[in-house]
Amino acid sequence: MHCDIQKILYTAEDIRAQVLQLGAMITRDYRGKSIQLVGILKGAVPFLNDLMRSIDLPLRSDVMALSSYGDRTVSSGTATILKDATLDIEGREVLIVEDIVDTGITLQRVVEYLGSRSPATLKVCALLDKPARRRVAINPDYCGFIIPDVFVVGYGLDYAEAYRELPYIGVLNVTCD
Ligand code: IMP
Ligand code: MG
Repeated sequence: MHCDIQKILYTAEDIRAQVLQLGAMITRDYRGKSIQLVGILKGAVPFLNDLMRSIDLPLRSDVMALSSYGDRTVSSGTATILKDATLDIEGREVLIVEDIVDTGITLQRVVEYLGSRSPATLKVCALLDKPARRRVAINPDYCGFIIPDVFVVGYGLDYAEAYRELPYIGVLNVTCD
């Protein structure tokens, strides 16, 4: 375990099992259709890569980026689009792939933005959900794990761009230096 991590919440094995389950649910729910994944950079990259390989349907994969927290652990209250998705989504079954829903502000912005481009359906798959901190009424359609109000890193999630490479999800030790 990395010295800045006070506790491992989910091991690589826990994550693998949960991603397989999410993929199976999505495969069942969209049977007979093709889907378009839109992953939110950069935190959702490992999740997007694993999830797409656990879905047994024809799919297309795209990414977009929104402004992040910077080096802080609290939300700025706004979310600006930094990089747009490139594939057309009109008439398609679109599934947003997000690392974590915290205040919900980022997700609400993405849903509004992609929703205005006439997808056939628009749903959300989040690896983690932190409902205690929600500031807008939005919830993922698919969720891997519901977590308490702690700041987590690993498996794509960062603190000041560090720890994304950890294979597990752990609670950051904010008092450690
Ligand atoms: P929201 O807009 O407050 O829902 O936050 C969305 C984004 O904040 C996520 O996509 C993450 O990039 C980041 N974030 C929120 N909570 C955490 C956390 O516990 N660890 C790392 N990043 C987080
Ligand atoms: Mg993110």
